[in-house]
Amino acid sequence: MAENDRTQLMAAQKEEFIALLSSVKRDGIEKLLDYLENKSDFYTAPAAAKFHNNFEGGLLEHSLNVYKNFKGLLALKGVEMDEDSIILTSLLHDLCKCNYYVKEERNRKVNGKWESYEMWSHVKAPSVLLPHSSRSIRIIRNFIPLKFIEELTIFYHMGPFGGEDYEYRNLLQETNERHPQTLLFYIADLMASYIDEKIIE
Ligand SMILES: [Fe+2]
Ligand SMILES: [Fe+2]
Repeated sequence: MAENDRTQLMAAQKEEFIALLSSVKRDGIEKLLDYLENKSDFYTAPAAAKFHNNFEGGLLEHSLNVYKNFKGLLALKGVEMDEDSIILTSLLHDLCKCNYYVKEERNRKVNGKWESYEMWSHVKAPSVLLPHSSRSIRIIRNFIPLKFIEELTIFYHMGPFGGEDYEYRNLLQETNERHPQTLLFYIADLMASYIDEKIIE
């Protein structure tokens, strides 16, 4: 995609994201929006260093993809969830990736000549010392309260990849059975990563 088109797409996606999040009626939403705009790199961060959407604006695009997939899957299966909860979980589940990725300059030999190139890497440790899902929840809670179903949806969004121990797997299974929103969210996230998004080598 041409640089100009990419910039325009990112601006449109940012506008869509802000309109959705601003529509949520929850104390603290304004402060959260201010954090995203002024104290984080959310709107320009990649979604990964080496995997899906590893480019500038990738995290923003991924969050919107998950929103669309999640809404579609809930409708497909007739599972209910408040629109505010759909928006909050989808748009904020990967907030843990804010201020996490950095661009590094590397060198490589191409046709016998050295050239420098940029690639994404990540900081050694994030400022909030919690793993992926818990970190997102902690950051969100700095600004707004979360309903328990929203917490469950974000906490288990990695599905079986979120933990290997026996207790985690048991709780995941029980949660998925009792709250199908959590299973559908995991699928929506996978669909975004593996079907909607691409990896730039
Ligand atoms: Fe995630
Ligand atoms: Fe995600």
